[in-house]
Amino acid sequence: MTVLPKPKQRIAILISGGGSNMRAIVEALHRRRWNDRYGAVIAGVVSNQASAAGLQWAEAQGIATRVCSHRDYASREAFDEALKQAVDGLTDQAPPDWVVLAGFMRILTPAFVEHYDGRLLNIHPSLLPAFPGLHTHQRAIEMGCRFAGATVHRVTAALDHGEILGQAVVPVLADDTPDQLAARVLTQEHRLYPDVLEQLLQARLQA
Ligand code: GAR
Repeated sequence: MTVLPKPKQRIAILISGGGSNMRAIVEALHRRRWNDRYGAVIAGVVSNQASAAGLQWAEAQGIATRVCSHRDYASREAFDEALKQAVDGLTDQAPPDWVVLAGFMRILTPAFVEHYDGRLLNIHPSLLPAFPGLHTHQRAIEMGCRFAGATVHRVTAALDHGEILGQAVVPVLADDTPDQLAARVLTQEHRLYPDVLEQLLQARLQA
């Protein structure tokens, strides 16, 4: 009996900084054998910051990396067009199967979002729809929230909206600082993002 190879699911990851969520995803891919099970491969990592620490880690893993700096472009539209070319360039100019925003700190234009419609994912460090935007942990503490967390969602043109695919909840402790709360949430992000992505990879394979 001939066993046909699984169709590839190529994952592009976009980062701006440390890239710990990227790392959690890459490590999950290897540890849980996503290539064998779902045909998943990391197509590459793109950053808008040349200094992003996550780039060095990705390079050390032998992952293709690209830098596309927003500072080189006069408008959001021009940057997003260049970013799109960098991302699609990872996969022979076709959109990757999944584009995963992992601490990618740029607001994206509707044209960019539409190009990756349905395959563009984000992790946001709050329990959406609470606290879209920046300074989520500080705002949760100031509002007296007893719980905080993170959300993985599909990306739409509206910032930090889009279908919620998974959430992780942590307690807000008395006297928490924003940094302490951020660290507690980030630990859960590293579990949540790979789990949600795995469900999507599995569902796509069975579709
Ligand atoms: C994470 O907490 C992520 O949720 C957040 O940035 C951090 C990136 O950490 N993303 C956003 O705030 C997006 N609006 P990482 O670079 O170590 O993955």
